[in-house]
Amino acid sequence: MDKLKVLIGRERIAAKVAEMGRRISQDFAGEPVVLIGVLKGATIFLADLARQITLDVSFDFIAVSSYGNATQHSGEVKLVKDVDRSMEGRNIILVEDILDTGLTLTYIQSLLRGHQPKSLKIAALLDKVSRRTEPIRGDYVGFEIPDEFVVGYGLDFAEHYRNLPDICVLESGPESE
Ligand code: IMP
Ligand code: MG
Repeated sequence: MDKLKVLIGRERIAAKVAEMGRRISQDFAGEPVVLIGVLKGATIFLADLARQITLDVSFDFIAVSSYGNATQHSGEVKLVKDVDRSMEGRNIILVEDILDTGLTLTYIQSLLRGHQPKSLKIAALLDKVSRRTEPIRGDYVGFEIPDEFVVGYGLDFAEHYRNLPDICVLESGPESE
């Protein structure tokens, strides 16, 4: 059995997401923005963040697969689903659940730069700063967290736990339970 311990509760998440939405609304005042969610982990964050932005917002989604098992990144990223429309001249905000090594967003960022957007920013709910191997940082970051595996609020372990309302640390329980 997996043991779950709440790291960031739903009220703290909601307050932070509201604050991030306000900052984005101020920074892009009067301009349209495209939120590009990285499937699937960013979906819940994107849905909440979008409703805290008081601008003309549209959505698009990208899916990538990173080779490796559930908790370890192999270093290779492959595009599974591209954006539906050209992003030329648009204000893009890449929306991601967590910045870990930075490999995923570094790959997606360079892919989107090829579209020649007007601007390209990163909104990441969580940031495991100590795990970074790539020189990349979020423009809008919710919470810096320690190097622990977390699930909930969109984040999964082998596709489980995405629907938990809180962000929880996953601890493996004793074998005998
Ligand atoms: P990166 O490419 O190493 O920055 O990894 C980013 C991706 O790894 C995220 O989109 C998540 O899917 C996954 N990931 C990294 N850390 C965690 C975690 O603690 N829980 C769940 N998924 C994670
Ligand atoms: Mg993921």
